Amino acid sequence: MPKDLLMWDETLFKDPEVFEIDYVPEQFHHREIQMRELAFQIRPGMRGGRPLNSVCKGLPGTGKTTSIRKLFLEIEETTKKLVPVYINCQIDNTKFAVFSQIFRRLSGHLPPASGTSFKTVYDAIARLLLKEEMVLLVALDDANYLFYENEINRVLYTLLRSHEAYPGTRIGVLLILSDLDLDLSTQLDSRVGSVFRPSEVYFPPYASEEIQEILRERVLQGFYQGCLPQEMFDLVVAQTQKSGDLRVGIDLLKRAAINAEKNARRTIERDDICGAYQVSRNLHLQSSVRALRDDERALLLAIADRASSEEEMNAGEVYRAVSSGMTISYTRFYEVLKKLDAMRLVNLHYREGRGRTRIISLRYAPQKVREYLGESG
Ligand SMILES: Nc1ncnc2c1ncn2[C@@H]1O[C@H](COP(=O)(O)OP(=O)(O)O)[C@@H](O)[C@H]1O
Ligand SMILES: [Mg+2]
Repeated sequence: MPKDLLMWDETLFKDPEVFEIDYVPEQFHHREIQMRELAFQIRPGMRGGRPLNSVCKGLPGTGKTTSIRKLFLEIEETTKKLVPVYINCQIDNTKFAVFSQIFRRLSGHLPPASGTSFKTVYDAIARLLLKEEMVLLVALDDANYLFYENEINRVLYTLLRSHEAYPGTRIGVLLILSDLDLDLSTQLDSRVGSVFRPSEVYFPPYASEEIQEILRERVLQGFYQGCLPQEMFDLVVAQTQKSGDLRVGIDLLKRAAINAEKNARRTIERDDICGAYQVSRNLHLQSSVRALRDDERALLLAIADRASSEEEMNAGEVYRAVSSGMTISYTRFYEVLKKLDAMRLVNLHYREGRGRTRIISLRYAPQKVREYLGESG
């Protein structure tokens, strides 16, 4: 065996952990301003008061989740009186689910899955907060997922007006949004808006030197020396910029190294990166599809099927086709369409003409969508 080949038990990864999606990097630069602003907002909570509410806005991959996770770790190291609760709204996207997570954070276990009313969970949370004199800080990450069925108003109303139902409770909210088009002033009820009054913290996209620096740090930590030649590193940076999402870059590094290992090579080559990019670029599609409910998946699949065969899809025709195969009301159908549009899986637009016709187009290649829905073949 030539000696530049990788032995079966050898690897390019010094620390594979640093390429994982939930890894919190030790080195975290370029977000100092945002972290300071958030710390300022949260500070009253460290002294037993109510934290000020904030909204973090920025495109995917701009360090919002990482900033919150870092701040929460610091709070946990400093005090027991301010309890930060992190909610991933892609997973927990109903009022009951959100409050179950809060209950779990405070009590150490989830409420019983069946037969527990919302009121029981809410009562228990309030009792724990008052007994231990704790203040709550709730981060609703990827809160876009709460907007489709107006769940956001129910969640915020209950959190922000808890002191009316349980005097003495103090809860602050951090809302994290990656959909810049979402307009809170029109989406929130006035009774929520009047108590929310958040400060906005903006996370701008990283500049190209920043992307380089962040990825270089990951490479140093994660790979053995010499696996990624400079020219190949530059290619990864270029692809990351093209996708506009740092997560794509980190995923790309991981997959490219796996490709090189598959071929028993000690260095990552152009083909490894190009092959990996075909997968990494669809990271958004993959994670969005995973978060869909059954009827939403079915509708997306129907759209993908039609997208392969037709030039233009209008909503009415798609509804007729879908409703012959499954029971779905037009209201629910349209609600799901709006959700898929807001998730940037499809594009919904109007065409003026005889009446207003809604046209649907798929934002991804139909076969890719089918693949991630588990329908490839
Ligand atoms: N300033 C930074 N330094 C190092 N890594 C970063 C930085 N910003 C983001 N990342 C990494 O990029 C990826 C995306 O960041 P994340 O916080 O999840 O972004 P967002 O929540 O805005 O989509 C994560 O893997 C994170 O570790
Ligand atoms: Mg995030």
